[in-house]
Amino acid sequence: MSALISITGGTPLQGRVRTEGAKNSCLPIIAATLLCEEQVVLHDIPALEDVLTMCQVLNFLGVETEYTPEEKKLTVFAGSMSSVEAPYALVRKMRASFLVIGPLLARFGRARVSLPGGCAIGIRPIDLHLKGLKAMGAEVIIGHGFIETVADKLHGERIYLDFPSVGATENIMMAAVLAEGITTIENAAEEPEVVDLARFINAMGGRVVGAGTDTIRIHGVTSLHSAEHTVIPDRIEAGTFMVAAAITGGEITVENVIPAHMVPLIAKLKEAGCDVIEEEALIHIRRNGPVRAVDIKTLPYPGFPTDLQSQMMALLTLAKGTSVITESVFENRFMHVDELRRMGAQIKIEGHCAVVAGRDKIFGAPVKATDLRAGAALTLAGLAAQGCTEIGAVHHIDRGYWHFTEKIAALGAQISRCE
Ligand code: UD1
Repeated sequence: MSALISITGGTPLQGRVRTEGAKNSCLPIIAATLLCEEQVVLHDIPALEDVLTMCQVLNFLGVETEYTPEEKKLTVFAGSMSSVEAPYALVRKMRASFLVIGPLLARFGRARVSLPGGCAIGIRPIDLHLKGLKAMGAEVIIGHGFIETVADKLHGERIYLDFPSVGATENIMMAAVLAEGITTIENAAEEPEVVDLARFINAMGGRVVGAGTDTIRIHGVTSLHSAEHTVIPDRIEAGTFMVAAAITGGEITVENVIPAHMVPLIAKLKEAGCDVIEEEALIHIRRNGPVRAVDIKTLPYPGFPTDLQSQMMALLTLAKGTSVITESVFENRFMHVDELRRMGAQIKIEGHCAVVAGRDKIFGAPVKATDLRAGAALTLAGLAAQGCTEIGAVHHIDRGYWHFTEKIAALGAQISRCE
């Protein structure tokens, strides 16, 4: 039985909150430790369910990991490994486990990873990951629910991605680190987490250039060495708190944030009627006036992030006017809509668009987190709703938010969690 979050809405949030290290940086970076035969130390690693699952994948492969949650420090030694196979039980739990295929293939010339299968927010194919690995000389065999890849020696190649997939960019980048020659990824993802992965690889002696642009070049090296790395702050967690301040008409300061990573959200929150002040590693946000309707279209970075779409939708249910939200990254990322409707929101879905007719009030109700970001959006809706909201299937939220209810409670909200 999963935990429940219970919220009595109506309190404007006030105070300061600190963002953790980015989940979407931690996962590929932990996978990339497989490339190195020496010990690596990672800092600012939060004790998220997804992070712990990635450590389990490494342990299954025979890698030694030592995690100290209080220090948010993870030490990995992948010098001796006993397996190159990631099992269904773990890959099914977290799709990002598939990120180990690139580094395993690069270092051992072989990897066997369970097929990730479907996922609540879309089909999420892996064709682009495989296209890249094949172009570099890997043989790919799919059967019995597994993908097996073999390559005597990967070689550099020019690889064009039909869509700037974050995971495919990361997997191909990791595979290319120990390949012979230069690999070029064209139409690569430009997300800050891709840049963080490249920084980590380079800290271990890899040669990745151009990360953060649409063309990444990886010059193959023969081996990597020991390194320490601190992951970047989580722009999605920071953004979730910013929307929490906006939806409750509150005033908060978010610490440990890189404002340059928040440009699309800041722009949309200002359009929606918030005051936002940026400092070096801080963002202050407040809303005094009414929420204004705004249109949003999710896009690959530096466009508006799909991982903040549901939270913004929660805010816009209370806007003066009608907003149109277009989801163009995932084909089925409106699972939260039915739950928001249970709280009185007026939302119509037309293909990839959600038309949100703002109302003066929404109302507390029992609802269910259908996925990670949907769970965050329902929590935000609950903070602003009249009455009590109870959110079920909270384990989805634990995948990506560390001490979520505690942090929001510390900002003055009436929120609690019961196991
Ligand atoms: C990552 C993030 C996730 C975020 C997403 C988009 C991690 C661990 N997860 O997921 O939180 O929502 O980026 O910003 O970093 N696609 C293909 N073929 C492929 C790969 C992807 O068609 O081989 C499509 C997907 O179906 C999807 C789109 O590309 O429609 C974006 O997916 P992608 O960027 O790969 O997302 P993830 O890396 O899975």
